[in-house]
This record gives sequence, C-alpha cells and structure tokens, in this order.
Amino acid sequence: MDKIIIKGGRRLEGRIPISGAKNSALTLLPCALLTDEPLTLRNLPRLADVDGFGHLLNQLGVSTMIEGARPEDFGRVMTLRAGRLTSTVAPYDMVRKMRASILVLGPLLARAGEATVSLPGGCAIGNRPIDLHLKALEALGAEIELTAGYVRAVAPKGGLRGGHINFPVVSVGATENALMTAVLAKGTTVIDNAAREPEIVDLCRCLVAMGASIEGIGSEKLTIHGKDRLHGATYRVMPDRIEAGSYACAAAITGGSVDLVGANAEDMTAILDMLVQTGAHVEVKGDVIHVSASGRLKPVNISTAPYPAFPTDMQAQFMAMLALADGVSVLTETIFENRYMHVPELARMGADIQVTGRSAVVRGVDKLVGAPVMATDLRASMSLILAGLVAEGETQVSRVYHLDRGYERLEEKLQAVGADIERVGSD
Ligand code: EPZ
Repeated sequence: MDKIIIKGGRRLEGRIPISGAKNSALTLLPCALLTDEPLTLRNLPRLADVDGFGHLLNQLGVSTMIEGARPEDFGRVMTLRAGRLTSTVAPYDMVRKMRASILVLGPLLARAGEATVSLPGGCAIGNRPIDLHLKALEALGAEIELTAGYVRAVAPKGGLRGGHINFPVVSVGATENALMTAVLAKGTTVIDNAAREPEIVDLCRCLVAMGASIEGIGSEKLTIHGKDRLHGATYRVMPDRIEAGSYACAAAITGGSVDLVGANAEDMTAILDMLVQTGAHVEVKGDVIHVSASGRLKPVNISTAPYPAFPTDMQAQFMAMLALADGVSVLTETIFENRYMHVPELARMGADIQVTGRSAVVRGVDKLVGAPVMATDLRASMSLILAGLVAEGETQVSRVYHLDRGYERLEEKLQAVGADIERVGSD
C-alpha cells in the first residue's frame, strides 16, 4: 500500500486547480440509468470512487466511454449509455467497497421496476443506516424486502406513483435516491426537509437537463412532476467545495498564500466565514478564491450541521488547523457518531485534543512534530496531510487509498505550490 511522505515547514504559495465534486459525481453517474439515451458528464474528477461507480454501472449493462483526456489534464469527460440494462443487482463485493453504490437503488427501481442492492453496511465514521432511503421509496409505492444482506425494491404493477416524503432527519443520500425515483413516478411528489447541499442542486439541474420537472431547487421543499421518460443530456459537474475547503486550510495552516482556481465560493460560505474567524484572509475574485494567513491562527468554536451550516466533511481539516491555534477551540460533530478517528493520530504528532461524546476540545499547541500516522477515512486522511505540512520533521501517512477516494492527484497539486510531499509505494 502506498504511503505519503511530507517534510513540514514550507509556506504554500501559488495556484491550485479545483476538480469536479466527488459527492456530485457519485449522484450524477446513476442518473444514466434513468434513460436509454447517452448522458455525458464533463469535469468528472479522476477518483477511485468514480472509477468504482463506473464499474458498477458496467455490471448493470451501462456502457461508459471516457473521451480522450491528456494525462496532464485534471478531470475528464465520460459518456454513459444505459441502452438496455443487463442486471438490476448491485452485488456485495462492489457495494462493500463503495457505499455510495446505494444510489443505484432508486434509479434502477424507477427504470426497471425492480432493484436488488447489497446493504452498504457501516464505515469508519458511523453505522450509516439507509432507513430513510427505503421509507422514501415506499412513499412512492415500492415494496421493500430485506433478505440475506440485500435490499430488494419492487414497483407495484401499475408503476410507481408520486407521493409525499417528509424526512425526519436531513439526509443527502436519501434525498438523492428520492429525487432519482420521483422523476419517473406517475404524478407529483413533494419532498419536505430535503437536503439543500450544493450537490443536491447539481443533481436537480442535471435531471432538469434530462427533461425532469422539479420546483424548489435549493430549498428544503422539492416538488417533482413525474415524466414517462427522460432523455440524454450533457452536464458539467460542479467544483468540489470540500476539496477547495481542504486546500484553503492548507494555505492557512502553513501561513501561505494560495489561489483556489475554479472553486465556487457561493457553495462555501460557512467554510470561508469560519476561515476568516481564525484570522485567515479570504478574497473572492470570480472563480478564484484567494486564501492567505500570517502569524498564529485564532481559536474558533464549530458545530457541524446540514447545509448551509458548517459541513461535517470539513471538521477534521479544521481540527488539524486549530491544533496550532492561539487558544482553545471546541468542535461539535452533530452528523456522524464516530467522526473523530483522526484525533489519536493528530495526538501522535503532539496535538492536545480531548473528545467527550460529540465534542472535541482542541487546545492549541506551539508546534506539531512529524510522525508515522495512519489514515482511517477520507477526511481524516486529509487532516493528517495538513498537520504534516506544518509539523517539524517528516510525517509518513499510511493507508492513503482513503485519500485517493476523494482527492484528485493530491500530491501533484500540493507539490505545485511548494510542499515537500511525495508518494512512495510501500516495500
Ligand atoms: C453524504 O453522505 C456524503 N457522501 C458524505 O460525504 C457527507 O458527509 C454526508 O452526505 C453529509 O453531508 C456522498 O455524498 C457520497 P446523510 P450520506 O444521509 O448521504 C443519517 C465524504 O467525506 N441517516 O446526509 O450517507 C446518517 O447516519 C462523505 O465525502 C439515517 O439515519 O449522508 C447521518 O447521521 C462522508 N438514515 C445523517 O443521517 C438514512 O437512511 C446524515 O447522513 C440516511 C442517513
């Protein structure tokens, strides 16, 4: 397994291109199942999860063609075509590697009238149930059966019908499955307490480009008027707000000066506001976000919550930054029950962090010291990279396959702005 070696202490300066959003790509790809015409997605990030999703779609009979991308390009264009499905089963060995596979459940059901998907199970950050996904599909008439580790959904004889879905908890994935099913249900569906993340807006815009009728896009109340069929489209994936936020933290933690090119600041208000509260300087010029910092950062208190509040996917990265702040910060993780796996690893580098229940008290220290550390999940890995960029000496991050799921060519992007970072194959 590869490792990433970082020698800390360099100020980052220069431009970092921001790739297409992983969490948008993973819900746009299954949209191809909703039509027998070609769906072309532009600005798809080159990520392990995107490749994995493509293989799952191939397994279902979807052809995927990647248009020539030069090796030096970031992102690529993929044309998908679900002319005729050859399977409606998403098998365990594929779903266990990528839990976002659950996002084929709704589209398969909507297109083929049935779907059998392995239960995704939990992951490092929590047990990640899918009860809200299933309740949403039942509200549209689906019969749901759980047997032998699989969920099987079947549409009624007359087909799925529009219904009222009222989510008790905001769920990004359940909102996505509900949307991708309702667009082909007969009649109107209303979704209350829908997730409002920018990735949901991206999904709605792609579905509308395919001929869907959706009102209330960007709000917590979505109204979908079902269609008999959708057509193909060409759609560009939004920029990744979490990748951009992660590199903004890299600029701030190293006291650097970095331009994030191709980012959309409007998707990142809570992240950028919090950065400014730590004393970093943020300036937005079109699709370039300039982030710089000098001197010690200030402590802040953060509580994660659904969009437009501070995103859970940025908690670990800010914790790394606040480990060196001039004072005490309190972080509260309200979305996932076990999203502090990065804490013991940061502590190995000298951070002073106490976790009690959902809250972590971070007492700023004067310095971090490089050490061998282990990545446990995607965003925890990034917090270790950030700590390594500023730590004294060398940091070795192992199990970097976690990183490759969500950050396109990370070490190249950081090398280009002066970081002493390299990837080595393990012996
Ligand atoms: C999406 O996960 C993202 N993943 C996550 O990003 C992100 O952290 C999360 O949304 C929250 O923003 C993708 O988009 C591929 P949820 P998702 O359903 O959809 C509970 C990353 O690092 N819940 O909004 O799985 C759940 O346990 C990843 O890029 C139920 O109880 O998240 C959690 O506590 C990590 N029942 C809360 O809701 C359900 O049926 C929010 O989860 C579904 C969810």
